Amino acid sequence: MAIRIIREQGDDILSKKSREVEKIDDRLQELIDDMIDTMHKYNGVGLAAVQVGILKRVLVIDLYDDKGPIVMINPVILKEKGEQEVEEGCLSFPNQFARVIRPAEVFVEYTTREGKRIKLKAKELLAQAICHEVDHLNGEVFVDKMIPGTLEYVEPEEGDKN
Ligand code: NI
Repeated sequence: MAIRIIREQGDDILSKKSREVEKIDDRLQELIDDMIDTMHKYNGVGLAAVQVGILKRVLVIDLYDDKGPIVMINPVILKEKGEQEVEEGCLSFPNQFARVIRPAEVFVEYTTREGKRIKLKAKELLAQAICHEVDHLNGEVFVDKMIPGTLEYVEPEEGDKN
């Protein structure tokens, strides 16, 4: 396991579309472990593979609750419901936050790291995180869809990247 370098604002890769995963092999499992470690290291709630320079449709989310890290391979949002206005940040945009409108609820289908295709209904913060990370897989970042005028720069705390 290793901490990977996070690609930041200005890196072209962040606007590229990630490709479907065709095979869940040892290399992919290693990538997933590294993504989880990297997300935890920088206190993120989510990370997409593109943010560590790999254009594969893989994302990890951790809300630091009893669900533990969630790994989604080839996620597809099947349905969206309602709206929520939320504050958002991103490990690729250190110290920046803005308000974004996200669906209040999503119904997502994805493959687990064990290779099982499952469906999940998510709301509130989990729905927000899924939408944010799926956007990354499509080459979209939160500042592309923020509510104009809501971008804020916040000074980092000691030892904190985001
Ligand atoms: Ni992000």
